[in-house]
Amino acid sequence: MTINPLKEKGMPLEKQLRNWHQIVAKPYKKEQVDCYTRTRQILMNGIEIEGWGFKHQFNRFMSDIDQEDRANISRIGRIENQQQITCNWLSPADQSVLETTLGYEQVAVDLTAWLSQNEPDKYVKETFDFGLLEDFDHLYRYAQFAYMTEGIEPSDIVQGQTDVIVGRPTQHHHNCNGLRLRNHYDKTTASPQTKVNILTVLSGEQQTHNFYAEHGFMYADHVLRETYAEIKDVEEEHVTMYESLIDPSETMFEKLLLHEFTEVCNYYTCVEDESDDEIKKYWEIFLDIELGHLQLVSEMFKKYEKRDPEEVIGSEIIIPCRFKSQKTYVQKVLEKEADKRLAPNGEYYKTMTEIPEDWASYKVQERASEISAPSENCIKLAGIYHDRDIVEASENLKNKQVSILEKGLQEIGVAHNTVMPDELQEMIDYHEKREEQKEMII
Ligand SMILES: [Fe+2]
Ligand SMILES: [Fe+2]
Ligand SMILES: [Fe+2]
Ligand SMILES: [Fe+2]
Repeated sequence: MTINPLKEKGMPLEKQLRNWHQIVAKPYKKEQVDCYTRTRQILMNGIEIEGWGFKHQFNRFMSDIDQEDRANISRIGRIENQQQITCNWLSPADQSVLETTLGYEQVAVDLTAWLSQNEPDKYVKETFDFGLLEDFDHLYRYAQFAYMTEGIEPSDIVQGQTDVIVGRPTQHHHNCNGLRLRNHYDKTTASPQTKVNILTVLSGEQQTHNFYAEHGFMYADHVLRETYAEIKDVEEEHVTMYESLIDPSETMFEKLLLHEFTEVCNYYTCVEDESDDEIKKYWEIFLDIELGHLQLVSEMFKKYEKRDPEEVIGSEIIIPCRFKSQKTYVQKVLEKEADKRLAPNGEYYKTMTEIPEDWASYKVQERASEISAPSENCIKLAGIYHDRDIVEASENLKNKQVSILEKGLQEIGVAHNTVMPDELQEMIDYHEKREEQKEMII
């Protein structure tokens, strides 16, 4: 049964402050946690980071506001900060950076695939599909290092719910920033679903960027450090791309309302979906807290904008993040759209054969990969280490890997160390031969 969030009182702000024991929760066990409990925990950390940061921006930029309202914005920001610690520190200390990284990319793939299938705006949906194939390839690249560095199989983290195989190759994700800018929705006509969808994925991508920025240096392997730098840079582009979909003429109070509404919707979904009873208790408390925030900012919206909040957020909960396996949908997009590229002037995406010869991203890609693309080196290294790359997918999808790579690779601006389709085929054949030999010995 759904609720009208504007009619709920939620927890009053004065009761929301928690003590240190309540803030620092008991972490989950990495061997036992359901992969979608982990994705919820990773996503909610990103949502809280965005919620916290926005309150600071709000108070830095807004001059015409009563002191007591400003103080309440600041108090709410502090609560977001406490919630963020709880969410983020549910991660156990023995979950390595690479294991967490696979979790982050699983969030990106399965969240974006869900959003895409539940997005009413056709243009926004295409952008979700476009971003989806890039994070899908990141998961594959990191999986190589997780195996080589720590002996982690992809299934240890994604638990067979998300395929791990080549997508649109990462070296082709580097674009001219101007091309990453998409056309924004119209705040007067866009549905609340579109607004919440974008803010949800944007928060996730921003935190993915931050996580790589702050953890990529924690490994000694130089190629791995370079790969974190390379993929972090793509996440920066994802932040640029998703934020550009938002109507920049939304007022700060409108944005404030949308931030709290997005938090409410996400925690509401977490409560509905959570299988871990202990963690569910946090989602329930946090939903109550967010309903309290929404009440407060709704009153401010009415006071300063003289409008009904329902005009912006509607009167129903939006479901932004139903985490479940999206393999069928992702495979469909993968086979159809690996060759898509960003078109100029915010136009719909084009295939490689349709983009002009002077496409602005070629220069960026040539410069970024002029010595080599780290994301290609990791496949080369996996070939030396393991005969072929680390892949986890159905036999049917595995059989299409070389043709997917062929479709995704460009002719112009390809790094000289690229694993080309014929080389990948050789690696696969060699691996199969070795497996047969092994069976004979055993
Ligand atoms: Fe929050
Ligand atoms: Fe990614
Ligand atoms: Fe991303
Ligand atoms: Fe909040």
